[in-house]
Amino acid sequence: MNYQAILESIQSELKDYKNTGKVATYIPELGKVDASKFGLHLNCINGNHYHLGASQERFSIQSISKVLSLAFALKLEGNKLWNRVDVEPSGDPFNSLVQLEYEKGIPRNPFINAGALVVSDILMSHLKNPKEDFLKYVRDIAGDQSIDYDTSVAASEMQHKYRNAALAHLMKDFKNIKNDVDALLDFYFHQCAIAMSCQQLAQAFSIFLNYSKQDQSQQALAVPTMLAKRINALMLTCGFYDESGEFAFRVGLPGKSGVGGGIVALHPKHYSIAVWSPPLNEKGNSELGMKVLELFTSKTEISVF
Ligand code: DON
Repeated sequence: MNYQAILESIQSELKDYKNTGKVATYIPELGKVDASKFGLHLNCINGNHYHLGASQERFSIQSISKVLSLAFALKLEGNKLWNRVDVEPSGDPFNSLVQLEYEKGIPRNPFINAGALVVSDILMSHLKNPKEDFLKYVRDIAGDQSIDYDTSVAASEMQHKYRNAALAHLMKDFKNIKNDVDALLDFYFHQCAIAMSCQQLAQAFSIFLNYSKQDQSQQALAVPTMLAKRINALMLTCGFYDESGEFAFRVGLPGKSGVGGGIVALHPKHYSIAVWSPPLNEKGNSELGMKVLELFTSKTEISVF
């Protein structure tokens, strides 16, 4: 497969694309980003790499972190985690409160904000220094010790915490949050405020690829195959909130978006791919990022289907 030629043909096809998306401003610090930024990194299971644009420029990973915190929490907590978070698509926006009340504080899945808060609470109960230990986990799987929190983004979100605070307090009342709510929010906002490039994200998400038994060094970092099956299934069904069906329909890969404009997607047997373009559609997913990935699986004629 000539991936470089395919990526270049996508770039020229989208040269004059009229983006109708809007950069997220509900976390004021995110609104400062240059809307025209674009980067892409493709990390193939055979070790080949391809990239476009600002693939090494770091941006706020936001909800993409929810996949990494789930992988870390499952490693520490095991299947007991599923007693506190369900595995169904919500069909509602990522920060919605409506289902939580009648579903007695059990979030629909780990990728909506409520679910990620419960996963963060589980991590807090296991880790001595949650922020330091989580950052170490991300640095190790990405193979890059320079990755860090953008503390101005975390502080900016803390100042506008009301909706996440409401979710956490409601779940605390249902006894599905064990730790102090403000400490939990601080930890969760820091996870979202990790700054990473497309290259670093594609590398980190290679832990969900299905490496052959021969490839022992990669297998050592990868999450166990049956766990990867579950996490990839959740990315496919819940990774884009109430646009998860649309992403599966147009792209056909497990993936996860963030309001920083990043999307990571993967084909378990072939590659992980990260794309970044800040303007978001009305569901909170990168408009151009989705378009690029749709063209990528259409032109390569490879998807999980
Ligand atoms: O909690 C929030 O609202 C943000 N820190 C993360 C939201 C997000 O990235 C949703 N993604 N598309």
